Amino acid sequence: MKTAIELRINGERYELLVSPNNTLLEVLREKLGLMGTKRGCDLGACGACTVLLDGEAVLSCLLLAVDAVGKEVTTIEGLSETGELHPLQQAFVERGALQCGFCTPGMILTAEAVLREDPQPTEESIKKKMAGNLCRCTGYKKVIDAMLSVPAPSGKEA
Ligand code: FES
Ligand code: FES
Repeated sequence: MKTAIELRINGERYELLVSPNNTLLEVLREKLGLMGTKRGCDLGACGACTVLLDGEAVLSCLLLAVDAVGKEVTTIEGLSETGELHPLQQAFVERGALQCGFCTPGMILTAEAVLREDPQPTEESIKKKMAGNLCRCTGYKKVIDAMLSVPAPSGKEA
């Protein structure tokens, strides 16, 4: 049996019919075509499906779509509000913090949540907070460098 819900995603409202067991990841990719949110493990182990829920990083493969009702969902498609690259996206490009890019949307959204909470993180705290986001090609040093380089308002002086 389907349930009618309304979700707010990247500032837009969507009226959807979902099954009670549909995850937010399934709805984003399969019903809305927001393919920037990646399905890696589908088990909560890789971080590729990370989105922001009211500004907090969450794993959309573990969150039921019905539990996102009444909250603001931000995916990588909606992170920049200007049409330009978001400062974190720019920093990832400049620091070479990606190769295939599969992990990158999840990395950037987790990084955004980390920097919102602590605009001046240490390398050690970044390592701890990014530990749930796995990358199979670039490694992590350049991701850390990118995060440390981000200017205000997402970064150090915010
Ligand atoms: S796809 Fe969600 S944590 Fe891997
Ligand atoms: S850039 Fe390929 S998995 Fe991270």
